[in-house]
Amino acid sequence: MSRNAYIVGTGHHVPEHVVTNADMEKIVDTSDEWITTRTGIKERRKVEGSTASSDLVSVAVQNAMEMAGWKPSDVQGIIVGTVTPDYPFPSTAALVADRLKMGNIPAYDFEAGCTAFIYGLIQAKAFIESGIMDRMIVVGVDCLTKITNWDDRGSCILFGDGAGAVAVSSEGPGGRLGGWHWGSDGSLGEHLMQIGGGSKNPASHGTVDRNEHTIFMNGARIFKHAVRAMHDSCMKALEQDGTEKKDVDLLVSHQANLRIIDATARALELEPEQVYINIQKYGNTSAASIPIALDEAYRSDAIRETSTVVLAAFGAGLTWGGMILHW
Ligand code: ACO
Repeated sequence: MSRNAYIVGTGHHVPEHVVTNADMEKIVDTSDEWITTRTGIKERRKVEGSTASSDLVSVAVQNAMEMAGWKPSDVQGIIVGTVTPDYPFPSTAALVADRLKMGNIPAYDFEAGCTAFIYGLIQAKAFIESGIMDRMIVVGVDCLTKITNWDDRGSCILFGDGAGAVAVSSEGPGGRLGGWHWGSDGSLGEHLMQIGGGSKNPASHGTVDRNEHTIFMNGARIFKHAVRAMHDSCMKALEQDGTEKKDVDLLVSHQANLRIIDATARALELEPEQVYINIQKYGNTSAASIPIALDEAYRSDAIRETSTVVLAAFGAGLTWGGMILHW
């Protein structure tokens, strides 16, 4: 008998500290009006002091396990998608598995920019449908404000911090992981990158002086690609799933820019109430944006027992992906 993978628990956590557009006006030459009309963002959350990704993840995972009715010892593996782990190594996943007393389970981080959560769900589907695991945790987390260039008004107004997690099981009921699509194009990688800190340009006084440990982004180029990639990912995931546009109940997409979300919704011919949007509250939380939105949508009843949900994302790499969920 063929096996399926189901989302049986969702959770998220964001830092308490709120940074409004009025606060951003004090940091760079910008305005609430510009940020709101160009991006849809009104405020974002920012971690303070030494708070790191693992701190946000621990709470998000506990919330997801609670909804699933799981004890830490029920979890057979945890994977964390992030570009802002606590350390280059050890992995944030291993730190969280230890902190939450999950035992000596497989735990690793992986990186696919803002697409990481969808990449993670596709890995979970493979692990669970093949019988390698029965119960695992998939996390998307980023603390982009730790690597934001606060002198660059074209990017610093976009980012916020947060974590989202799902518990994925071989046993329903829950949101069944359906058709998917994923891809990448490294030839476009230079348009969105952190230049310093890796093996190419290891940390040095020079990399710090040149601000190379912060995000470099060619916004206009990414925007153009994002609209096409999101549309493509949705259509290919729907086709693989055998689902038509008219049968979609809700779009939960990466929250990077309201105009990109609107373009994706138009391509799917969705009504405004069929699109989950929280970018106004959190900005772009990178790998965390879809699992945060999914958790909020589920807990606010925007997702019901019979919902067909489309997930879509794009991000650094460049990467892109889509997945269909059936509740
Ligand atoms: N406030 C006021 N003016 C600004 C600001 C600001 N914060 N930022 C840029 N401007 C100015 C520019 O200087 C430019 O002025 P000019 O015409 O005098 O040269 C003007 O506004 C227009 O700039 P554009 O860059 O063309 O503005 P655009 O409409 O493209 O919006 C934005 C910029 C919001 C960054 C958009 O391109 C975007 O959202 N791109 C996608 C970014 C993205 O999604 N990245 C996600 C990846 S994150 C990850 O994977 C880790």
